[in-house]
Amino acid sequence: MLAIVSAMPEEIAGVLQALADVRIQEFGRRQFHTGSLQGAEVVVVFSRWGKVAAAATVTQLLSSYPVTGLVFGGVAGAVRPGLAIGDIVVATELVQHDMDASPLYPRYEVPLLGKARFTTDPVLCGQLAAAAKTFLTQDLSSQVVQGEREFFKITSPRVVQGLVASGDKFFASGGEVQELRQRLPEVCCVEMEGAAVAQVCDEYAMPFAVVRTISDSADENSVHDFPRFSREIARHYSIGVLARFLAARAG
Ligand code: ADE
Repeated sequence: MLAIVSAMPEEIAGVLQALADVRIQEFGRRQFHTGSLQGAEVVVVFSRWGKVAAAATVTQLLSSYPVTGLVFGGVAGAVRPGLAIGDIVVATELVQHDMDASPLYPRYEVPLLGKARFTTDPVLCGQLAAAAKTFLTQDLSSQVVQGEREFFKITSPRVVQGLVASGDKFFASGGEVQELRQRLPEVCCVEMEGAAVAQVCDEYAMPFAVVRTISDSADENSVHDFPRFSREIARHYSIGVLARFLAARAG
């Protein structure tokens, strides 16, 4: 069974519309939907927001369902220079930018695990990156209205693979982004759940992948761009990428 976890309620709502033979179970204020999606047996759940919420969701998920792989999606703020709204980041690794148990452990290292970075499953990651590229080249223009693409200047969006940083903080200033770039120069984008999901999957030896659409530049404009992108565009990306991913796997 494949787990589909998202930090976007809009994405969950879209996936549920396409889910057949749905069964719902509730644990800890979370609704877990099982069913069949494009022929694949899946469990679908909203992560909720922040590291603790997402970790709790995934722990419950892995304890209650016979999951063999997990895909986590949502939006993110751009950190790497050149990355633009509408680009897609597929994580190769994730780090918790707010983890700091120094001087007991090196900064960013998760105590007792002996590592700061969690690596995604290369097979899932490759499949997601391919699906994202197909979505951008073949589906985007028909699935996202022109007015919204123009508003966000989405003209030739790209798929990028790299380091994703997570923490319990919404970035909303250029100064904060600059400071993060200085201390973690490889970071592509920032969000609030991925590395927590990654830590739980790592501890449970569960193959996982993370895909994030850039919704804002994590600067002063993010307070306007993030809600508009989330409302008008994000679900078309995540549902479109997921549809291409499942179709290729069914193959
Ligand atoms: N997710 C999307 N945009 C974000 C931002 N600017 N900061 C943190 N998480 C985000």
